[in-house]
Amino acid sequence: MKAFKLGNDFIFGTATSSTQIEGGDKNNTWYEWSKEGKIRDLSSPFTACDHWNRVEKDIGLLIELHVQSHRMSLEWSRIEPEPGQFSKDAIDHYRKEIKLLLKNNIEPLITLHHFSDPLWFKDMGGWMEAENIEFFTEYVEYVVKNIGDLVCQWVTINEPNVYSTLGYAIGIFPPGQRNIFKCFKVMRNLIKAHIKVYDLIHETREREGYQGKTIVGYALHIRIFDGLSFLGKKTAQCLDYIFHTLSIVGMTTGHLKFPLSEKGYINKRRTTDFIGVNFYTRNIVEFILCPSFYFYHLLNDKDLSKNDQGWDIYPEGIYRVCKKYYKKYELPIYITENGISDRYDNRRPKYIGNHLFQIKRAIDEGVDIQRYYHWSLMDNFEWIDGETGRFGLYHCNFQTQKRTPRKSAMLYAEICYYKEVTQ
Ligand code: NOJ
Repeated sequence: MKAFKLGNDFIFGTATSSTQIEGGDKNNTWYEWSKEGKIRDLSSPFTACDHWNRVEKDIGLLIELHVQSHRMSLEWSRIEPEPGQFSKDAIDHYRKEIKLLLKNNIEPLITLHHFSDPLWFKDMGGWMEAENIEFFTEYVEYVVKNIGDLVCQWVTINEPNVYSTLGYAIGIFPPGQRNIFKCFKVMRNLIKAHIKVYDLIHETREREGYQGKTIVGYALHIRIFDGLSFLGKKTAQCLDYIFHTLSIVGMTTGHLKFPLSEKGYINKRRTTDFIGVNFYTRNIVEFILCPSFYFYHLLNDKDLSKNDQGWDIYPEGIYRVCKKYYKKYELPIYITENGISDRYDNRRPKYIGNHLFQIKRAIDEGVDIQRYYHWSLMDNFEWIDGETGRFGLYHCNFQTQKRTPRKSAMLYAEICYYKEVTQ
């Protein structure tokens, strides 16, 4: 057995997103996608964890876990059901939820966009149209004016790289397109939106005279792509560039570097206060020329154990990612997500311990990692894997809505409380 401690000011938290837990909303793209039969187990986000009606109980779970912070998202389609029409009820609901977190000394980290869009936004062409960025900035301004007195810390956009590639290049997220140029266009618009609202959030909180230090960042899905052969390595570098570099450079420095399109600085100042890393897995990359897979093939490492969805468990990856991007930007890093789908909780305790060990290793080598948010508080609607991908510290029975702590929940509660990990 080995034990190690994270510093006293290291922040532990949990992460969720509105579409994945709230239930009860039909005005978003993921509800529509589920109605088109696109979810593997045919479930829908309309049920999810019914969190909208169970906020108090669910905050009780966070209290049991002793988390110091909780990352949650706001549902744009609820706050702005029609273009330009904002719902006071939705804002009041979120204000109540956030106040309850604060009352229990849980610092909210609020995500403004987490994969789902209002249907009206999609009908106007969604993120394909550069003019539509304006709708997002109006929504953000409204939110910050109306909630910003309670919230200092924000994530603008969650995983713009996953949103654009799965929705527009691979076609398994809405709107199901397979066109790499559209994917780049959407990615670029999401990056521009981040850059715009980074300033907007700072300015709005300052103008309104809201207390507390404003912190604004993004959350990017960062994997490791490793190649084994010469061609495999080149292919991995290419994927790394498309999937990570374009977004990280853009959202961190305001510099757009897209191939075959506009380049240059949107903004020459720093455009994020932290780098948010969502880390889950690694892929071994092989080069292939096959029109249906573009130019690559993603393989598993047969020596590594897997999560329930078959993703390799590779804790060293989190160390490699943090080292790489800290060296490049020297900005604070938040692990905005890390977790495992593991219905029976056989691998999760070790997964948590091993990833925290690698985080500690990077910190000991000088990397400024300040926070760790475990994905997720409870089982929820796991996008195309629906109710089947079970990432929760708490098991959720979607029929009865009963939440039951897995043994990892007890383990994580101890980690959050003592900031010490025993493996
Ligand atoms: C990252 C996404 O942000 C989150 O919504 C998702 O559930 C987890 N990955 C697990 O796939």
